Amino acid sequence: MMPLQADHKHIVYLDNAATTCIDPVVAGLIREAGDEFYGNASSLHSMGTMAHEVLEQSRIKLASLLGANPSEIIFTGSGTESNNLALKGVAFANAYKGRHIVVSAIEHDCILRAARWLETQGFFVTFLPVDQEGFIDVSALEKVINSKTILVSVMHANNEIGTIQPVEEIGRICRERNIYFHSDACQSFGKIPVNVHTLFTDLLTVNSHKLHGPKGVGALYLRNGVAIEPLLHGGGQERGIRSSTENIPGIIGFVKAAEIACREMEAEMHRLTGLQERIISTLSHNIEGVYFNGSLSSRLPNNINFCIEGMEGEGMRLQLMLDEAGVCVSTGSACSSNDGGNPSHVLQAIGLNPFQARGGIRLSLGRFSTQKDTDIFLKIIIETVKQLKPIF
Ligand SMILES: Cc1ncc(COP(=O)(O)O)c(C=O)c1O
Repeated sequence: MMPLQADHKHIVYLDNAATTCIDPVVAGLIREAGDEFYGNASSLHSMGTMAHEVLEQSRIKLASLLGANPSEIIFTGSGTESNNLALKGVAFANAYKGRHIVVSAIEHDCILRAARWLETQGFFVTFLPVDQEGFIDVSALEKVINSKTILVSVMHANNEIGTIQPVEEIGRICRERNIYFHSDACQSFGKIPVNVHTLFTDLLTVNSHKLHGPKGVGALYLRNGVAIEPLLHGGGQERGIRSSTENIPGIIGFVKAAEIACREMEAEMHRLTGLQERIISTLSHNIEGVYFNGSLSSRLPNNINFCIEGMEGEGMRLQLMLDEAGVCVSTGSACSSNDGGNPSHVLQAIGLNPFQARGGIRLSLGRFSTQKDTDIFLKIIIETVKQLKPIF
C-alpha cells in the first residue's frame, strides 16, 4: 500500500516509529463498529450491552496477546496517558512508602516530563544514564534503588535508536526488592515478543497507532494488586481507574491491529531484519563517514538511526531534501520538533554532542514498507549526500 500526496506523487513513508498508516482491514472494522456499536458501554439498554460485550471481548483479546488477565487491562486514550497514569498514579498511591522513583535518561518525553513534574510534587527522581549503545547499567540500577524507591520505569525499546533494554533482568531485580516496575512498550509491542510475565512487569504501556491501528487509543497493563491512584475522576469506567466513556470503535481497531501485528510478528521480524541489514550495509559502502546510533545486537528490527560525519549540521536539510523527493524520515531534532528542534536527548545520552545529536536520521519501517521503498530511500540519500558533500 503506497500512500499518495495531493499531487499524486508516491510517498515512501519510513517514519513508522512516529506513527503508522491504519491497516485497511482495521479501518474497515472501525467504520463498521462506529455504525454498530455506538452505544455507551455503561448504558443498561441493548445498545449499551452490545457495546459492553465487545469492549470486554477486546479486553480479553488484548490481555491474551500480552499474557495478562483481562481484569489487568485498562484502556486509555494514548501511550502518553498510560505512561502518565503509571508514573503519577503509582507515585501518589504509594507515597506513604517512599518518594523515590527511577527512570532511564532515554525515556520518551511523556515519562521524562511526568517524572520532572513529580519532582515538583515532592518526589525524588533518579535519571539513570545509558551507555554508548543506549543500555542502562543494571548494576548501577541496583546501586541507586533503596528502601524509599517505589517505582522503576524503563522502556522496553527506544523510539529513536531502537535499543532493546534488558527488561527481564530489570524486572526481576525490582520484583526481588518489592519495587513496582513499569515498562513503556509502545515501540516494541507487535514488533518483538512482549509478555508481562516473562518481562516481570507490574505495569506496561502499549498504544495503537504504532502498529497500524487508530490514533488516540492505548492501554495500561496493571498487575492485579498494584496500588494506583486514578488521574481522571468521573463515571468510574475501567474499574474506576480511568473514567471516560470508552472509545469502542477505537478499541476494536486497536485490538484488531495488535492481533494482526502479533500474528505476523515472526515473519515480519525476519523480513525487516533483512531490510535493516541491507540498508546498513548499503549506507556503509556508499556514504563516507556514516555512523550508526544505538545497539546493533539488541535492536528493534524496524529501526535504523545514523549520522554522517561532518554533515551532522545538515540533518534537517537532508530531511527536507528527502521529503521533497517524497521520502519521509525523521531527524534527531524532528523527534523533538515540539521543543523547537532541540537536539535529541537520546543521542546526547549515548554520548553524541549537541551538534551531532541534531544530525541523527531515523528510518523506521512498518509492515507496509517494501524493499522498493528502501531502495528509493537509498538511491535518494546517496545522491543527496553527494550533492551536499562538496560544500564541506
Ligand atoms: C516510546 C513511546 N512512548 C510513548 C509514546 C506516546 O504515545 P502516544 O502518541 O500514543 O501518546 C510514544 C510515541 O511517540 C513512544 O514512542
